[in-house]
Amino acid sequence: MQFCVFRFLGNMLNTVSLCVLALAFAHSSAASNAKRGLAFADSADPTDISVAENTQVSWVYDWGTTAPSYLADSGITYIPMQWGASGVEDFAATVQASGAKTILGFNEPDMSSQSNIEPATAASLWTQYIQPLGADGVQLGAPAVTNGPTGTPWLSQFLGNCTECTFDFIPLHWYGEGLGNFYNYIWSFHGEFASWPLWVTEFASTSTNVSEVQDFCNQSIIYLDSLDWIGGYSWFAFYRETSGSYYNLLDANGNLNTLGEIYLDGTD
Ligand SMILES: *[C@@H]1O[C@H](CO)[C@@H](O)[C@H](O)[C@H]1NC(C)=O
Ligand SMILES: *[C@@H]1O[C@H](CO)[C@@H](O)[C@H](O)[C@H]1NC(C)=O
Ligand SMILES: *[C@@H]1O[C@H](CO)[C@@H](O)[C@H](O)[C@H]1NC(C)=O
Repeated sequence: MQFCVFRFLGNMLNTVSLCVLALAFAHSSAASNAKRGLAFADSADPTDISVAENTQVSWVYDWGTTAPSYLADSGITYIPMQWGASGVEDFAATVQASGAKTILGFNEPDMSSQSNIEPATAASLWTQYIQPLGADGVQLGAPAVTNGPTGTPWLSQFLGNCTECTFDFIPLHWYGEGLGNFYNYIWSFHGEFASWPLWVTEFASTSTNVSEVQDFCNQSIIYLDSLDWIGGYSWFAFYRETSGSYYNLLDANGNLNTLGEIYLDGTD
């Protein structure tokens, strides 16, 4: 719903311009899907974000804490992430300064090659530095574990240690082949951590068959949209194609490829 205020102070042209802006804004807001996000950290090609404007995409994260300047006029909400233990003491102040309403916690802390934090240590850092944001009304997304064998055991131990913590949702990552395998995993995760909505903040089909990857993306986003315990999701990733990549959403020049067209403009 939108309306135009006729103040009769300026000339007719100014009044018309204000109304046109209001209409344009109303249109772009109505089109996006509140669940659908982008995983995008390609600082080499920041203007690629322009193809995501006025699409189904409503939010973006880049594994960092501070919104990149290229998002300023995009109409896409930035969600900061505290990637690992380093710099965690500054995170709350950064989030408060930016006015962000939602945050993401540690990235794949169960992996030695990723943020690699012991559950007890992560819980202690969380309690001291991240939990206070919850009292300010910021929506807290728990650490995001992998779908490898260390993933859900890490999360259980973290939750067991984080007795003072509250979470608004739990993110998770999944890579593999086959819709059935993906659906089984998220349902099993939902069964184990039933108290929280889930966000799938990295997922992709690792098939090397392009039409299989496209079908996986097309079907899975429709399915995720239909589940009321899924609060958000972001396909991996909003990157340009490179040789041997099958799940990136952009072609080599930064335009949407077929997969990108499915994900950004597909049915919701
Ligand atoms: C706390 O985390 C440690 C690993 O850091 C784990 O050994 C322990 O079982 C956890 N405690 C609970 C209650 O889950
Ligand atoms: C790719 O997958 C589709 C659907 O499963 C199949 O029909 C097609 O033969 C596959 N293509 C190749 C090159 O394997
Ligand atoms: C996506 O799936 C629907 C059926 O669920 C199908 O009608 C549509 O053609 C598919 N789109 C693409 C681009 O594959």
